[in-house]
Amino acid sequence: MDNKAELSNLSAQTKLMPFGNKTVYLNGEYLPLSEAKISVMDRGFLFGDGIYEVIPSYSGKLFRFDEHMQRLENSLSSIRLANPFDSAQWLDRLTPLLDANLDQAIYLQISRGVADKRDHAFPEKVTPTVFAMSTTIVPFTDLDTGAKVISVDDTRWALCNIKATTLLANILLRQQAIDNGCAEAILVKDGYVTEGAASNVFAVIDGILITPPKSREILAGITRDVILELAEHHNIAYSEEIISLDALKTASEIWITSTTREIVPVIQLDNESIGSGKPGSLWQTMNRLFQDYKRASHE
Ligand code: PDD
Repeated sequence: MDNKAELSNLSAQTKLMPFGNKTVYLNGEYLPLSEAKISVMDRGFLFGDGIYEVIPSYSGKLFRFDEHMQRLENSLSSIRLANPFDSAQWLDRLTPLLDANLDQAIYLQISRGVADKRDHAFPEKVTPTVFAMSTTIVPFTDLDTGAKVISVDDTRWALCNIKATTLLANILLRQQAIDNGCAEAILVKDGYVTEGAASNVFAVIDGILITPPKSREILAGITRDVILELAEHHNIAYSEEIISLDALKTASEIWITSTTREIVPVIQLDNESIGSGKPGSLWQTMNRLFQDYKRASHE
């Protein structure tokens, strides 16, 4: 089906959806979530052979869309998959999932597709499976009190810059945090902080805002980039450099950042208070700048 035919077919189907029945996109169709099905031979299911994106949408407008599209392109080329759509085609497909009255996170996933046998090697001819859905962003509720985190060994693989659906290590590490009454696990490799199980990490050390540099050991967070841009524009001293766990323990502030949680102040690391044990003053400033920037982006 060509792009136009697919879209008009889609919008006809969308109108048929009963109110309140969540509509998702799957391979060219809009369907109620309960009817969206994929084959058990999908390589996303069998191998986790796929990548994903999570794009926030405020008042029906996708935030930092071009940057998310660029990261999607990077992830796809890293796993040797062609992008099925250009940015305009993605926007066409995602727009019906947006709700102008909600803050949403749009999840999209592309797997290598359905093969006729389970074989690690890429199948010769295969059509990628494309799925997208919206979820409501529920702001982190403990902003006033802050979050507790634990440090854990970064047991993930060597290509953490790819936003791969293969997230078993991240899931186990996040669950370890939750089992310890913490909101996030701070991952540590060879004594140095990489990132969170599903977030980037910032620290304020000697008055400087520090975050580890982009590398294959971290996912290049879009929220992280926004924060560094805001720091630059507002003359907040910052640096992209490695942070040892020992240095992190001396920080006056720690933040964890992501699309779904935005900027969360950390008040306890491994049961020890960070700074005053309350969200810090630079966090207050940055959170205000971030919220203003967000608002301006969809006005
Ligand atoms: N995760 N690092 C990891 C490992 C992540 O999973 C995420 C986000 C980030 C922050 O990236 P961004 O600021 O672009 O959201 C960093 C998403 C939200 C998720 O997996 O649901």
